[in-house]
Amino acid sequence: MKVLVTGGAGFVGSHVVDALLKGGHRVVIVDDLSSGHRMNVHQGVKCYKVALTSPKLEHVFKKERFDAICHLAAKTNMRESLSDPYADITSNILGLVHLLELASKKYPVKKFVFSSTGGALYGNAKTLPCVEDMPANPISPYGVAKLAGEKYLYYYHHVHDLPVVILRYSNVYGPRNERKEHVGAVTSFIQRVRDGKKIYINGNGKQTRDFVYVEDVARANVRALSRRKRNYLVCNISGGVETSVIRVIRLIERFIGKKAKLVFKPAIRGEVKRSILSNKRAKQYLRWTPRYSVEEGVAKTVDHLRGQ
Ligand SMILES: NC(=O)c1ccc[n+]([C@@H]2O[C@H](COP(=O)([O-])OP(=O)(O)OC[C@H]3O[C@@H](n4cnc5c(N)ncnc54)[C@H](O)[C@@H]3O)[C@@H](O)[C@H]2O)c1
Repeated sequence: MKVLVTGGAGFVGSHVVDALLKGGHRVVIVDDLSSGHRMNVHQGVKCYKVALTSPKLEHVFKKERFDAICHLAAKTNMRESLSDPYADITSNILGLVHLLELASKKYPVKKFVFSSTGGALYGNAKTLPCVEDMPANPISPYGVAKLAGEKYLYYYHHVHDLPVVILRYSNVYGPRNERKEHVGAVTSFIQRVRDGKKIYINGNGKQTRDFVYVEDVARANVRALSRRKRNYLVCNISGGVETSVIRVIRLIERFIGKKAKLVFKPAIRGEVKRSILSNKRAKQYLRWTPRYSVEEGVAKTVDHLRGQ
């Protein structure tokens, strides 16, 4: 298949490109390089530096004629969306709708895979693990835009027959995350232990998250593309294991062979204490299961960051 990967110069998108090439697909990237980097772009893969809202996007569709799309381009910083919701809306809603207009009407594709979020959608869930049918009550512009994106996809599926798979990721970590301006917790902890810097923890460190290794997320995108059914499917993509912040730090200490300098601060009010997403549906409908345990994924990430 010829696949458009939007955001293919970013952290997760660049791994999706790798996985698609490995699976024998042809890949083209559209990325405005606002948070992504040329160094993430696979040699030999065409990368159009085009914003999702730009009229130039249509030229790309006309020229390339895609079979499918993995849509990852987005403003991804939840905190920034609080201070600048308009930038978030521009990329994550206007940009998405522009893409969908092209991909469903003028240049229809056979599959549209959307990168959504678990954490920012479910928030402080009453029951765990979070399952896909739970009500989504996002409390950030980023989460609201992702939910709106899912609803737009529902509309384009029902009215314009666009086959859709929505992947709601938990906390993604792994190599190339360090190239982002705001790195995730795992990368930040590894860099700080490695460099002998203090790690500030809000609360007692027993708060849990569901970490998923980036290569597993990339493989989920490839599985979603090969799904034959032309319906609308929403799946959590997660490790499916609750891991405390302290446990991640202890693993890093072991792999690096150095003690972390921990500084405990008061817990942040409203911060989610426990987080875990069920990945049963992805196992059933995508025949996808995470290959990396947190232990294996953290070890690989430590190896990648050693000496950088
Ligand atoms: N990293 C995570 O833990 C996580 C969790 C849940 C969901 N997601 C979703 O996965 C996707 C990828 O996230 P990431 O962590 O790789 O982020 P990233 O910032 O590394 O990648 C996003 C890419 O999109 C590009 N981009 C942004 N706005 C654009 C626009 N308007 N037009 C064209 N390109 C644009 C950026 O330059 C960047 O290369 C996003 O949709 C994000 O919301 C990520």
